[in-house]
Amino acid sequence: MLLGTGGTIAGRAAEAADNVGYVAGQVDVAEFVAAVPALDEAPLDVEQIAQIDSKDMGLGVWQALVRRIAAHLERQEVKAVIVTHGTDTIEETAFLLQSLLRPAKPVVLTCAMRPSTALMPDGPQNLSDAVVVARYEGAVGVVVVCAGQVHGARDVAKVHTYRLDAFDSGDAGPLACVEEGRVRAFRNWDSAGEDRPFDTKARARFLAIKELPRVELITSHADADGSLVRGLLALRHERPLRGIVVAGTGNGTVHSALTKALNDAQAQGVRVRLTSRCVNGRVVPHPGLAFEDAGGLSPVKARLALALDLLEV
Ligand code: SIN
Repeated sequence: MLLGTGGTIAGRAAEAADNVGYVAGQVDVAEFVAAVPALDEAPLDVEQIAQIDSKDMGLGVWQALVRRIAAHLERQEVKAVIVTHGTDTIEETAFLLQSLLRPAKPVVLTCAMRPSTALMPDGPQNLSDAVVVARYEGAVGVVVVCAGQVHGARDVAKVHTYRLDAFDSGDAGPLACVEEGRVRAFRNWDSAGEDRPFDTKARARFLAIKELPRVELITSHADADGSLVRGLLALRHERPLRGIVVAGTGNGTVHSALTKALNDAQAQGVRVRLTSRCVNGRVVPHPGLAFEDAGGLSPVKARLALALDLLEV
């Protein structure tokens, strides 16, 4: 099954030479597949779930994706599900799907950095590679395929604004690469760094909600004063503040003024979790950490993890 959600892979520009001034989410997934000759051999059923720029990703599309992927994975004749997605939030969707589905069959997310109208688009190759990965015997769980690399849902992050190989898995490295239509695995994908226990009831809770618990993301930086946190606490919002993820400096240190404001937030019942704003490495837990450790997740994934955890409460 191939599910389309939009993104640059489905983007169109007025000029073939234009790799940045395009509109994402324009080409239907069926039309896109028909234009990739390498896919002629692969029996692919397609379904358009959404047609958006992934910067606008949110609960509605995520719920539709989770629902449809779960239904397709249950069908015996479906070996794998591929999802085309924008690069900008693909790491969040991958993490969410892995958290809620933890699938035994492969769920392969793919994308492109250039629109379908580009002189040399990367989408067709990425989609062909995704099909190869989807058919690979050792493939399991949610992965992201881009620029010939296969990344695990937990570790993958977009690290470049325009390069075709825009993704990285940090210290963990990619799970595999795709070479001339073949997967070369670097390590076992079984657990792919998964240390969060799988909560079998989380999916039903997620599908039943009308909004995610409000969790904000705040960065510690020089000259921070905590006023954003105080502003959030003062807001009488219809979606009350339930959590804050703070991207701390280095090994999870937080400016003292921001620490004070976050302590006030905790005193008012807001859950605070700590990550690092460093691109690589994780916060090494130690007794002096100011707030609950986010388990080595990136700030955006820690935000989602906390929102999902708050659904339990
Ligand atoms: C998007 O994320 O939908 C637009 C950017 C991209 O796919 O590269």
